[in-house]
Amino acid sequence: MEIYTDRDDIDSWTEVTLIYKSALKQISTKLEILNDEFQHVHRYNPIEHIKSRIKTPESIVKKLKKHGYESTIGNMVKYVNDIAGIRVICSFTSDIYKIAEMISNQSDINVISVKDYIVNPKPSGYKSYHMLVTIPVYLSDRIEETKVEIQIRTVAMDFWASLEHKIHYKFEGNAPDHIREQLVECSRIVSDLDTRMLNLNKEIQHLSEG
Ligand code: GTP
Ligand code: MG
Repeated sequence: MEIYTDRDDIDSWTEVTLIYKSALKQISTKLEILNDEFQHVHRYNPIEHIKSRIKTPESIVKKLKKHGYESTIGNMVKYVNDIAGIRVICSFTSDIYKIAEMISNQSDINVISVKDYIVNPKPSGYKSYHMLVTIPVYLSDRIEETKVEIQIRTVAMDFWASLEHKIHYKFEGNAPDHIREQLVECSRIVSDLDTRMLNLNKEIQHLSEG
């Protein structure tokens, strides 16, 4: 592994990993608390499930190379924004925006950037709501503002993204046109499904309230 040139580098990579893992734990806990509170107040859970991961050293090195940076710990921390990643899967599109707002409103979380691929899907058909945030990690001798990439999407969007990811990987980014076209079409069906499910849910809620 190119990052590990000597003992000091291994030590700092271990420390960096520890900090990112702590940041992920904190964001996960915040999301669980919000979900529990929502259950308590509104009798329903906006979050279906949460997945988190730390980017592998291999793909960090690949990303740095792609952008023309040397593989150093400093460059990783500075230029790779998705070393710590968390994916939040919701039932309904409206839940995505509720979660995003609740996260943004927390005073220790700093929102660096937002990419709304639901309003503006990627040409592939990819839809998701991305937030790049920082959260303070309290160590024994200092506080590290740590970057976490949060991806929020519906179950249907997640289903689409995992199949598209597999296809992308299999064809090394060069999938045949007819497959790409079908994926774009499926992405439209996903949006249609999400809208219809949301409307159905609203109707059911309305009936149970009345
Ligand atoms: P990288 O794609 O991470 O180099 O950075 P970026 O600046 O393009 O960030 P962006 O927010 O566009 O995408 C980051 C992540 O979103 C990726 O690592 C994937 O997890 C996901 N993603 C983005 N585009 C697609 C897509 O077309 N298909 C799938 N399946 N996932 C995508
Ligand atoms: Mg990208």
